[in-house]
Amino acid sequence: MDTFPTLRVQAGRANAVRADLIVVPVLGDAIRDALRPFGPAGAVPARRATAAEFKGRPDDVFVHGGDRATFMLQGMDGKAGLDAWRKLGARARREGERQGAKRVAAWLGDATVQLDVLAAVAEGFLLAGYRFDRYKKERKAPKVEGLVLVGASAPKPALWKAALDDAASVVAQVFGARDLVNEPPSVATPSFIAKHAERLAVETPGLKVEVWSGRRLEREGLAGLLAVARGTNEEPRFIQLRYSPQGARKRVALVGKGITFDSGGLSLKPAKSMETMKYDMAGAATVLSAVAAVAKLGLPIAVTAYAPTTENLPGERAQKPGDVITFMNGKSAEVLNTDAEGRLVLADALALAAKSKPDVIVDLATLTGAARVALGAAYAAVLGNDQATIDSLIAAGKAVGEPLWQLPLAKEYREDIRSSIADVKNVGGPEGGTITAALFLEEFVGDSKWAHLDIAGPAFAERETALGGKGATAFGVRLLVEWLRGLAA
Ligand code: BES
Ligand code: MN
Ligand code: ZN
Repeated sequence: MDTFPTLRVQAGRANAVRADLIVVPVLGDAIRDALRPFGPAGAVPARRATAAEFKGRPDDVFVHGGDRATFMLQGMDGKAGLDAWRKLGARARREGERQGAKRVAAWLGDATVQLDVLAAVAEGFLLAGYRFDRYKKERKAPKVEGLVLVGASAPKPALWKAALDDAASVVAQVFGARDLVNEPPSVATPSFIAKHAERLAVETPGLKVEVWSGRRLEREGLAGLLAVARGTNEEPRFIQLRYSPQGARKRVALVGKGITFDSGGLSLKPAKSMETMKYDMAGAATVLSAVAAVAKLGLPIAVTAYAPTTENLPGERAQKPGDVITFMNGKSAEVLNTDAEGRLVLADALALAAKSKPDVIVDLATLTGAARVALGAAYAAVLGNDQATIDSLIAAGKAVGEPLWQLPLAKEYREDIRSSIADVKNVGGPEGGTITAALFLEEFVGDSKWAHLDIAGPAFAERETALGGKGATAFGVRLLVEWLRGLAA
C-alpha cells in the first residue's frame, strides 16, 4: 500500500494559513480578488503576477517565492467543474515536489464547502504523486508530507474525512493498476497478475477471487485464451474477481484484456511496435482495480471482473495463420493474423460473462492500434449495442477527466470479418480496424447490453499528462468507479 500525504480540511482565515506552498485559484484575471483574503501578505504576489502579465487563463500558473511561503496562483475556468479542481490539485503536488515543500495548502474560498470539490483537489494531488522507480538505483522519497484545504467554512469533519478517504481508496487502486502495467513484461506475467488479484481479495472485505489454470481452462472451454497461449511457455490464467454485496441494485460484468506481452505471435510485430507491448494487459489491470475500489467504497452494486491473461509469443507450438478456433458459445473464427489476439481471448470471457445474465457488460481492451491513430492518447473509443449505456459511460468519463469518443458499431462492415470456412475471421480489411474488432466482440455478448472501450490510446502515456507521468495511466479505473456510483444511485 502506498503511503499518501496526509489530507486535511480546515475552516479559517486565509492569512492564518501556514505552509511552504500556498496554492490560490484565480478565476479569470481577478488576481486581486483571489489574493485579497490574504491581506497585506497577498499584495506583493498580486503586484508581481500583474506585472508578469499573468492573466489567470485556465492552466496558467504564476509562482511567487515570498519570505515565509511561496504562492502559486493557478488560472481556473470557473465553468470547467471538477476537472479543473482536480488539475489544480495535481499542479499543486508537482510544484510542491519541485520546490521540496513539505506542507502544501490550498485556499479554496467558498468552494471549500463542496465535498466533491475537496475530493477532486485531493484526488489530483494524490494522482500526480505517482512514480514508478522500483528499478532505479536512486529512489527519491517524496518530499510533500501533507495537503491542507482551507476556506472560510468547511463541512463537518466526519463528512470531509469520508470524502477524502474515498478519494484515497480510489487512487490507491489507480496506483495498483499503474504498477501492474509499468512492471516489465517478464515480471508481470499471467501468474503475477493472478497473485495480485488474490492479494486484493485477501486485503479487501467482500472480494472473492477465482483463478483458472491448466486443465480447468480446457474444461471450461476457454478456447481463445488457450489458442493464444500455445505460443508461450508462460502459463495462462483466467481470473475472476467478484464483489457481490447483499441487496445489490445491479449486476455488472467488467471484462479486461490481459495480454502481458504482445509480440504479435507468428504474425510478428516490428521491433519498434513491441517496445511498449507490456501495456497490453491494461484492460485486465483496470477492471481488477475498479472492482477492488468499488468493494472498498462499499457501493451497493455486484461487480465481477473477468480477466483472461496470457502472453502472445511465436513459440514452436504457436497458433498459425489459417487455424480455426471454436469458442465457448459455439461460434468459430479463422485466425488469419495472430496479432489480432485480443479479440480471441476476450471472446470466451464475454461469452462467459453473458452466461451469468448481468444487467450490463463493459469490456476494456488495448485492442487496436487504429484507435490510437484515430483518437490519439487522450480519448478512448467507445462502441456498443446500447446507447444509454454508452451515454452514461461518456458522462462518467467526462466527469473524471477520462474522456470517451463514440465510434459506430457499423453493421455495414460485418462482411469485412466474414470467413469462407468459419463463422468469422479475426481481421477485417485495412479500414475501420477499431470498428471491425468491436464487431468481432459483439458476436460473443449474446443479448446482453454491452459497451466496449478501446483504450489503446490513453492507457499508456508517451509524455507526461496532467495527472501522471509517462507510462501507465490506469485510464478507466476512475471512469468505471464514477459510472458504477451512478448505477448505484
Ligand atoms: N495490442 C495490439 C493493439 C495495440 C497497438 C495497442 C498499439 C496499443 C498500441 C493488438 O493486439 C494488435 O496487435 N492489433 C492489431 C490488429 C490487426 C492485426 C487487425 C493492430 O492494431 O495492428
Ligand atoms: Mn496484437
Ligand atoms: Zn494485443
